[in-house]
Amino acid sequence: MTLCHNSSKYIYTIFVKNQIMTNNSNQSRVTIKILNQMKSKSEKISMLTAYDFSFAKIIDEAGIDIILVGDSASNVMAGHETTLPITLDQMIYHASSVVRAVNRALVIVDLPFGTYQADSKEALKSAIKIMKESGAHAVKLEGGYQAKESIERIIQAGIPVMGHLGLTPQSIYKFGTYEVRAKNKQEADTLLNDALMLQEIGCFSVLLEKIPNILSKKVSSKLTVPIIGIGAGSSVDGQVLVLQDMLGMNKDFSPRFLRRYLDMDRLICEAVKKYSTDIKSGDFPNKEEQY
Ligand code: KIV
Repeated sequence: MTLCHNSSKYIYTIFVKNQIMTNNSNQSRVTIKILNQMKSKSEKISMLTAYDFSFAKIIDEAGIDIILVGDSASNVMAGHETTLPITLDQMIYHASSVVRAVNRALVIVDLPFGTYQADSKEALKSAIKIMKESGAHAVKLEGGYQAKESIERIIQAGIPVMGHLGLTPQSIYKFGTYEVRAKNKQEADTLLNDALMLQEIGCFSVLLEKIPNILSKKVSSKLTVPIIGIGAGSSVDGQVLVLQDMLGMNKDFSPRFLRRYLDMDRLICEAVKKYSTDIKSGDFPNKEEQY
């Protein structure tokens, strides 16, 4: 009797604690429904990439709405020239590290190159593996009509999909350049039709990369799902940047759309120089810093 009473009291305490934690830290999860509500209220959506636990924890606590575990990890984390080499298992490693850190943001993971292009069965298998092994909430994949069947199959399995149009870095060797896409009428019309198709088959959102503002404005006004842009101007429903780029960790990458919020490259360099100097001079560790 006593045991039973105590354990229910214990469960109640945990319940109350969780309620308090939820209320105090304002940790209600960002869901697809919330993103839709944000669009209908013209509330802008903030999104950043992250690939590891430490950064994901900081940006989640800072209140970012969506965290994208982008295949840009291939460039940023592994130093590859393109996004093509990163594997499904490497994406899962990054994504599960991010998921462990996050309490509030919606976590989306890129399906990497070569894991969904062959056929829709393979695409579904890849998406299921990512969802099962990383604990993420949704996947993103590049392409319009050519990806239609795969996207439909993934959505039918209950996995939310964000589409990705405009500059699609996984096709870099087809286009040969990272320049602005859909500048002419034919390409712009194709992109708009692709966006409408992605919404129709059930994508919960579409990401537009490096296209003219006038076109993203048209897409955002015609679609009811949230449109996230990178280098797609101000008329979309939300913005995404690569975290390391906006923190100023990469001096070699300066496209017009990139706003740097920190000079992290310099700050880290200065801190490391100071640390090194302190060691060499015998200043570190001092008396208070040892046992
Ligand atoms: O992989 C990535 O970082 C992306 C960008 C568009 C943000 O897909």
